Amino acid sequence: MSKTTRFGISIDSELLKKFDKRNKLKGYLNRSEAIRDLIRDCLVTEQWEKNEGEMVGVVSLVFDHHRLDLPNKLTEEQHKYHSIIISSLHIHLDKHNCLEVLLLRGEGEKIRKLAENLISHKGVKHGRLSLTTTGEDIS
Ligand code: NI
Repeated sequence: MSKTTRFGISIDSELLKKFDKRNKLKGYLNRSEAIRDLIRDCLVTEQWEKNEGEMVGVVSLVFDHHRLDLPNKLTEEQHKYHSIIISSLHIHLDKHNCLEVLLLRGEGEKIRKLAENLISHKGVKHGRLSLTTTGEDIS
């Protein structure tokens, strides 16, 4: 871990009050950790925008498994991108609905493409890609 630096910020009092209120609601014990999280989130978002290096993504899909051939189509799509799928989880939510969660690691563009291909399938009721990081280069 690198050394810690302290720095001061000039900020509008009302803005700071809102920030403190928000942090309290989110469970932060102090401003520093809230600010560190915002900085990290900003850096990870920029990493995704620049499409630099290895990224991590989590895809969730909710779908009706009775839908004609949908489970097969989703599996087929995943086989095309097998090299970036670290793990997958399938939960039978009820008699009809399934939740599939995929953990992806690799080139950002490939992660996005696979997520889009899966989410856009007819019969997928809800799909989401959460973009995150391998944690390297972020302290
Ligand atoms: Ni199922």
